[in-house]
Amino acid sequence: MKSIKKEVSLGNKKILLRLDLNVPIFNNRIIDTTRIDKILPTLGFLINQNAKILIISHVGRPKGKIVEKLSLKLIGEELSKKLNQNVKLVSKNIKEINLKELFNKNDEKIIMLENIRFYPEEEKNNQQFAKHLATLADIYVNDAFSCSHRAHASIHEITNFLPSYSGLQFDLEVNALKKITSEIKKPITCIIGGSKVSTKINIIKNLIPKFDNIIIVGGMANNIIKYMGNSIGKSLQEENSEKIIKEIFSLSEKVDCKIIYPDDVVVGKSLDGNPQVKELNEIAPDEMILDIGPKTIDNINNIIDKSSTILWNGPAGYFENPKFANGSIKIAKGIIQNNKSNKIFSVAGGGDTVSLINSLNAINNFNFVSTAGGAFLEYLEGKELPGIKALS
Ligand code: 3PG
Repeated sequence: MKSIKKEVSLGNKKILLRLDLNVPIFNNRIIDTTRIDKILPTLGFLINQNAKILIISHVGRPKGKIVEKLSLKLIGEELSKKLNQNVKLVSKNIKEINLKELFNKNDEKIIMLENIRFYPEEEKNNQQFAKHLATLADIYVNDAFSCSHRAHASIHEITNFLPSYSGLQFDLEVNALKKITSEIKKPITCIIGGSKVSTKINIIKNLIPKFDNIIIVGGMANNIIKYMGNSIGKSLQEENSEKIIKEIFSLSEKVDCKIIYPDDVVVGKSLDGNPQVKELNEIAPDEMILDIGPKTIDNINNIIDKSSTILWNGPAGYFENPKFANGSIKIAKGIIQNNKSNKIFSVAGGGDTVSLINSLNAINNFNFVSTAGGAFLEYLEGKELPGIKALS
């Protein structure tokens, strides 16, 4: 991979910069800016070199349609504040924009295009779409390591049409993960949670041979709780996951990896409902699982105490509402405590996990914190990520 850091003659060049500004937003407010903060050095580097910057990013999963609440407007304003510089959001249909319309005014140095996932061509890795994006710049830079597990047009196909480089944060993440995976110490425990069930459930199978314990919490655990014969009411779930869950358990037995899932849960009737601790067989049809219960927390913390390495990706519940954040906070505290006494090596990844750790002011109590969620897990799987391959 060629790093943009090594290029010193970018003056007046137009850079198409792919970022991952997919930050958690709640009640129209950005609740964690880590992903924005982490790419400031790349922007600073390009600004110092007098380059013109055309930012592309996605937020959320609009599935190829314009979804107003997934506009990048709020994020562009935050970025502008942090840089103390104007960031102009161009909302015009990307497919109709042409180069002559961009960077016309002298003070127009940073332009941001609207959510790239408003266009179905992005996720289809469409060649024409990538080719058109390429007409808007001279150089492509990927500083979105956390999206590099996606073979999307602005990550993958685009590299066929422009000289392509990795960004500063991309380099940092890949180098850190390379080091971690080569130096990791057993027993290794991987905690996987969050709500992106479809992204993560298939990855678990490939992680089993590498770890001693896999703790499944969050949305994915709901499927296991159901598979074990319990009713899960209105909880988040993935359709047709029985086969993969069966494979997960049978493989784990063969290679002696323990799969741990909740013993008890916290439910609510809605996302802002009242929390209630329940046994797995007590969940009512109008309830949804929103956190792990006290028995599960104790069990997880015992496993953390006995591990040498902890990899954590995805919260244990709907932590955005403090009423359902207890499980995630207790997991974080268990890791932090062991890390402070140098008993474990800990790595956390994913937008929501990082946001939670930040809310506890504990970023420095982890050995490494990656901005990547799904990409982090797929990297651990040993997969060649499309975004890395395209730059290589
Ligand atoms: C992430 O949050 O992990 C990245 O922004 C990728 O998002 P995705 O899982 O929707 O592709």
